[in-house]
Amino acid sequence: MKEKTAMIPLVDLKAQYAGIREEIMPAITEVIASGRFIGGPAVAGFENMFREFCEVGHVVGCANGTDALEIALWALGIGDKDEVICPSHTFIATAEAILRAGARPVFADIEPETHLLDPASVERNITERTRAVIPVHLYGQPCEMDSIMAVARRNHLWVIEDCAQAHGARYDGKRVGTFGELGMYSFYPGKNLGAYGDGGAIVTNNHELARKIKMYANHGRNQKYLHDFPGVNSRLDAIQAAVLTAKLKHLEEWNQKRAEAAQVYHRLLDRVSDLVLPAHAPRRSHVYHLYVVQVPDGRRDDIIRQLKSDGVEAGVHYPVPLHEQPAFVHLGYRPEDLPVTHRVASRIISLPMFPEITQEQIGAVARALTSAIASR
Ligand SMILES: Cc1ncc(COP(=O)(O)O)c(C=O)c1O
Repeated sequence: MKEKTAMIPLVDLKAQYAGIREEIMPAITEVIASGRFIGGPAVAGFENMFREFCEVGHVVGCANGTDALEIALWALGIGDKDEVICPSHTFIATAEAILRAGARPVFADIEPETHLLDPASVERNITERTRAVIPVHLYGQPCEMDSIMAVARRNHLWVIEDCAQAHGARYDGKRVGTFGELGMYSFYPGKNLGAYGDGGAIVTNNHELARKIKMYANHGRNQKYLHDFPGVNSRLDAIQAAVLTAKLKHLEEWNQKRAEAAQVYHRLLDRVSDLVLPAHAPRRSHVYHLYVVQVPDGRRDDIIRQLKSDGVEAGVHYPVPLHEQPAFVHLGYRPEDLPVTHRVASRIISLPMFPEITQEQIGAVARALTSAIASR
């Protein structure tokens, strides 16, 4: 009989907490003791530290990454009748924020190797209504920013970078989020830098935009009871800011561990036939938020089932592309309109990836995947 061992999770937040408990609890207690739950030194302290980390002029915390995207669009004056180009192969928030801002999402295809926004497809989708493009640095790898910025400049488009999965990644040595006019981050718990609840931020080198964004996220005010315009309540919570400050000190080391885990996966899985490993493009640092492989068409669900029975939790990011989602059916896309996105979505599997993953766990995942692919 097979020995029952603990499931290897996709993400292990408990393992991370075990390593930093001594730093987290005093940080939370300090906020509670201070009575400053909204704004105050904890939020300012985190914004400042994250600003230095991102090598950018301004950071404005907000309630979550989805709000950050919507606020970014609002700050650039994008809304009614405007079009914004983004990938369909991403989390729904990217396109949802465009719709919520009142604009129309236009989906561009992805590069077959990296699964990141294809600059040529962006260019093909530009119309006289296009105002902005949102490259998503998916899975932790920066998009081809030279080409995307060149397309944007040629066509007078704003660039808002979705860095929700790429805290700490660099393209040509420069941090993601600093190429476009604005960058946004999510601190959803499972992200490379995750809060213990929701959180998000917008980064920019534009002082005036930062001022506007800060006001918009706080009811259109910068002093109590004086509101220059109607905004929203989307502030980064002080307790979350304290957690993020404690965790940010470890982020570079955690990203390094993710990259090492990816190397071990590569080594163990390199020769498995019928398996495509994630491509790491030149000039980019990859922070491996996710380690995503491709298996042959039609075999994905069986392989995931077999992994599960072998004690491996796998995920799919994302199984249904946005252009095929009921939420966007009114946009009138057909699956074949974005052929690379459509093909990739049915073949991808995310393997367990977190900084604390052990060599033994990676070995067990690799063995389970190798045998799942071989069995028919
Ligand atoms: C690519 C991407 N964009 C945007 C978001 C939205 O962030 P949040 O969940 O903090 O609203 C997420 C994460 O959830 C994401 O993965």
